[in-house]
Amino acid sequence: VVKPDVKWLGTPINELKRMPECGGPLPPLKDVPGHHPMYLIPFNGKVPVPYPAKFKDTWDDVHVKMPCSSWNLFPVQDEVMVQRSRWELIKETLNNAFTSQPELQNAILKYNASQAKKWDFTALRLYCTKVLEPDAAEHLFDSLLPDMVQLALRASELCTKPIPLLKRGMNHSITMSQEQVACLLANAFFCTFPRRNSRRTEYCNYPDINFFRLFEGPSSRKIEKLKTLMCYFKSLTEQKPTGLVTFTRKSLDKPLNWKSKDPFSQTRLTNLHITCEGTIEDDGYGMLQVDFANRFVGGGVTSSGLVQEEIRFLINPELIVSRLFTEALDHNECLIITGTQQYSKYTGYGQTYQWDGSHQDTIPSDGWQRRCTEIVAIDALQFKNFLEQFRPERLNRELNKAYCGFARPEEQSKNLAAVATGNWGCGVFGGDTRLKALLQMLAAAEAGRDVAYFTFGDSQLMTDVHKMHSFLTQRKISVGEVYDLLGQYYSSVCKSCLGRRPDVSLYSFIYQQVSSFLAPDDSDRGSARH
Ligand code: AR6
Repeated sequence: VVKPDVKWLGTPINELKRMPECGGPLPPLKDVPGHHPMYLIPFNGKVPVPYPAKFKDTWDDVHVKMPCSSWNLFPVQDEVMVQRSRWELIKETLNNAFTSQPELQNAILKYNASQAKKWDFTALRLYCTKVLEPDAAEHLFDSLLPDMVQLALRASELCTKPIPLLKRGMNHSITMSQEQVACLLANAFFCTFPRRNSRRTEYCNYPDINFFRLFEGPSSRKIEKLKTLMCYFKSLTEQKPTGLVTFTRKSLDKPLNWKSKDPFSQTRLTNLHITCEGTIEDDGYGMLQVDFANRFVGGGVTSSGLVQEEIRFLINPELIVSRLFTEALDHNECLIITGTQQYSKYTGYGQTYQWDGSHQDTIPSDGWQRRCTEIVAIDALQFKNFLEQFRPERLNRELNKAYCGFARPEEQSKNLAAVATGNWGCGVFGGDTRLKALLQMLAAAEAGRDVAYFTFGDSQLMTDVHKMHSFLTQRKISVGEVYDLLGQYYSSVCKSCLGRRPDVSLYSFIYQQVSSFLAPDDSDRGSARH
């Protein structure tokens, strides 16, 4: 029975660790191997200075192809076919003030001529003509868009160092200033990134970065997305952000053996705070915040998606730049983004999502001038068939994915903030919340971190997961033993249900099994056994 007045259970949230309080000292940024800082160190608390001083032009398959590269060419039919600089055309076109939405649209299409028949600008048109009040529309064309153009055109001055692509299997970090991120996102808005308009090209395994899909169609969701992103650009031009953001791609070199015989999985569960109120981003400040990701990070943020990941990328738009250089994540990989700022508030979710004004982000910064907001993108598997997720190889995959996201072997457990998570993989991706909650608890335990779990309004789930967590911790059941129970559930319940939903739920099965191998008066098994 769920008591309506109970809003949280388990460890009080204030007893869980958060950054910056729990963190250890950071090494000097330049000394970190596998790290790619894109600005001059030291920066003395001022706006970081790009490094090197002059644009280093590259055009290869290990770096982002920049719009301002001299290799960014397009063919023109003169007397003979000649190649012209696309960046010159972009500069010329965008510098030519546009005073209305059709002019803006034509400008974008001028240097994306081959897309002219394909791209649709209905959402942008509605935003400029129906949504914005006349004053606001005037401000957009007189001030905001010209500022965004200037920011975009500073690409060769701000992003002087080639940006490495974070490819499959790489363990590598890129740190850039918020100003560099802003410049790249302004370019994304004006759709200037070369080779990025079709998924059939060399970037087929990368997310979309140019914003053209955001402008398409009449849906009110697009309008709310545009409002949210324009709030970001507006805030930038009013006050230049001075921080840094790090993007780290990380892979697990060797999958863990989760079985109880392995020495690893003698680990006991860590603390759990579980609540049916609040959100990861609001109440999990300073914790490691989980992004319920797509393998193409950001999912449908620049097109039509509007659930947990997309919303997070909209309110913290600096996350979007990860799409420029992050190849689709593999099963054993994650992307960690530290230092992004929240610029917007929102209400609703999915269909009912609405931009709710600008947000003042008051999160303190760390020794590298990054906001203490650490977000980890981990993509769950999508399940169409309920039973599929209980297969041992699927369990392993999800455990290793979560573990890759949560574990920081280079840090001491005492310096690790709790994981702020929730129904990972259980919305669009169709997973079972009770299974996924358990899997995430196992991965967090192996990683040595506590868990703050947000059930997003589901108080029955809060009660059930809390009860299971208390049951397992009281009986001192280890990670490996829980893992073995999951395997038994698959072989003795799921395998025989022939596609139907199992008659016995996972949690009832665990209660039954554990109670049958533990005599009732033997519940203090830990001391009896060891
Ligand atoms: N805080 C806590 N819990 C939340 C929050 C929040 N802010 N927002 C949503 N939830 P979903 P998935 C809960 O469907 O199934 C995207 O397109 C809520 O209960 O976003 O992993 C990605 O790009 C919700 O039902 O995650 C992927 O393509 C549940 O979390 C795909 O969706 C799951 O949210 C991933 O789908």
